[in-house]
Amino acid sequence: MKALIIYFTSLGRSKKTSAVIGSAMTNYDVDYFPFILTGTFGMKVSIQNQHTKGDFSTIEQELSELDKIKQDYDLIIFGMPTYGDYPPSAFYEIVKRVDIKEQKVAIFTTCSITGKKTLELMEKTVKEAGAIIIAQARFKGFFRPKLKQAFKFGQSINEALAKEN
Ligand SMILES: Cc1cc2nc3c(=O)[nH]c(=O)nc-3n(C[C@H](O)[C@H](O)[C@H](O)COP(=O)(O)O)c2cc1C
Repeated sequence: MKALIIYFTSLGRSKKTSAVIGSAMTNYDVDYFPFILTGTFGMKVSIQNQHTKGDFSTIEQELSELDKIKQDYDLIIFGMPTYGDYPPSAFYEIVKRVDIKEQKVAIFTTCSITGKKTLELMEKTVKEAGAIIIAQARFKGFFRPKLKQAFKFGQSINEALAKEN
């Protein structure tokens, strides 16, 4: 079984969380597709402002690689941070670039306090694209990412698969 974890990060927490989830999914070969913002905080904010205006030129290279991905995954996981109570604008563009019609999907957000709205928006977006959501989680960590919870989430996805087969 194959899984793909597509994540976006600017502070590194969604990357760590994705790695831990993937490490728990021992029944799967897990691939990662990262969108990582680098540079100063100001640069990251400015890139995200561009994205909000619909200009994704800063991540177009990654997006075009996503277009080319051979879509034979049993499961795709989208991992997004919560910024200002929303997923990054790039999330919507990423979903447009992957065929997830009738695809099993899991979603998660990393956040400090809120994140509920982010998860709801993510759910709505992937459902509208035709995906079947099998799991979702919100990892609330104010000081550090909730990696134990992330591991359990990965295990639960792994066990769900074992029960199915
Ligand atoms: C600009 C900015 C806005 C944020 N807004 C929220 C928010 O509205 N709610 C929340 O719970 N956490 C918020 N956070 C905290 C992030 O969601 C949290 O640190 C997340 O894990 C960051 O993910 P990343 O390290 O993958 O970028 C915000 C962080 C930043 C930098």
